[in-house]
Amino acid sequence: MGISQELYKKAKKIIPGGTQLFSKRPEMFLPDLWPAYYSKAKGCEVWDLDNKKYIDMSYMGIGSCILGYSDDDVNLAVDGAVTNGNMCTLNAPEEVELAELLCELHPWAEMVRYARCGGEAMSIAVRIARAATGKDIILFCGYHGWHDWYLSANLADDQALDGHLLQGLFSKGVPRGLLGTAKPFIYNNTEQFLDLINKNKGKIAAVVVETIRNYEPKPGFLETIRKVTDELKIVMICDEVSSGWRLNVGGAHLKYGISPDIAVFAKGISNGFPMAAIIGKSDVMQAAQETFISSTYWTDRIGPTAAIAAIKKMKANDVPRYLSIVGSKIKKGWSDLANKYHLKISVSGIDPLGHFSFNYDNHLYLKTLFTQLMLEKGFLATNAFYASFSHTEQCVDSYLMAVDESLAFISESLKNDSVVSDLKGLVCHAGFKRLE
Ligand SMILES: Cc1ncc(COP(=O)(O)O)c(C=O)c1O
Repeated sequence: MGISQELYKKAKKIIPGGTQLFSKRPEMFLPDLWPAYYSKAKGCEVWDLDNKKYIDMSYMGIGSCILGYSDDDVNLAVDGAVTNGNMCTLNAPEEVELAELLCELHPWAEMVRYARCGGEAMSIAVRIARAATGKDIILFCGYHGWHDWYLSANLADDQALDGHLLQGLFSKGVPRGLLGTAKPFIYNNTEQFLDLINKNKGKIAAVVVETIRNYEPKPGFLETIRKVTDELKIVMICDEVSSGWRLNVGGAHLKYGISPDIAVFAKGISNGFPMAAIIGKSDVMQAAQETFISSTYWTDRIGPTAAIAAIKKMKANDVPRYLSIVGSKIKKGWSDLANKYHLKISVSGIDPLGHFSFNYDNHLYLKTLFTQLMLEKGFLATNAFYASFSHTEQCVDSYLMAVDESLAFISESLKNDSVVSDLKGLVCHAGFKRLE
């Protein structure tokens, strides 16, 4: 066991849950063996505390680093913000420049507010929608963060959120008074959405959707939501925290011809520096003035500076096109190599955010074994790949060679019934659970 793994053991004793982001828990990848901490990250290369180098072919900062880690151009802009003062009693002028840039990219939007994280930005969007409509209920599909408005969906049924990215989310600590204020429907299930609309008529503040996550929207799904919300004066919110900047420069809703009332960006907007933006139509956004939404660190200069630099670079290089090319090559690689070794897998996700699952009862063991084998070959890898501008053809090719060898091993392991004994540690976790 190396320094990184030892440090994580210590962390679990002093930090409840070990990490600040559930998706960074080593237990989600390879319990006890995942390198857990980094000393340096550049492009798609990562060094752990033992100075071992890996190529990150997994989540790239959980989707936050579209240009690659520590991008030189974004860093240069951020250096300027640091040198000239990241914080001041006066405001950062970059806030206005970024607002203009975002409204230019999204011509339906007229006003912009900022935060620094995806979940809090979604909370702001929901607060604005409730303030603008005077209604309480939120209909939603997808994952939208850790805040009370969202987790309250699990007060009614502790599995209500299971189909929306993360399984098993606990809602302890969320006031029971919020019961019935957030109601989920399944993406692409227009009938279920319409049923919820009918059952809650007159009480709905907003409909919140992740514009796209695993599947293309079925024809008519997003359009029906837009039409119904328009007719009933309900705020339509597109959560672009994960989908934004990957299919086009801006929100994915642009690609599907949808103009929501509010769209929310975080993560990918600023290539790893904390930043989030809530953009919207002015009649809805002005409701932000009739409630209290305010925080000191939403005013720092690094956030908007990094976002402006990242957006300009994504636009100048047509980065979304590159992400789709790289991502589709990886998805095809998974399918072809699984066929080569007669392994049953399902590949899904949009090209820039692809993933696969093993279609076997012991799929979690197979996923863990895959990560173990890939780590031994120098890759941070799981059953997903988030494409970045730093993933060169060469690293894609070397990754697919390693996948080839790993799937060959897994196929033999299945034949020999030795999957469990081939694992050097425990099986990975499937969803949210308490750490011991
Ligand atoms: C669609 C979506 N919304 C909201 C969030 C929450 O963002 P954050 O982790 O920055 O709070 C995420 C994070 O993965 C997300 O994918």
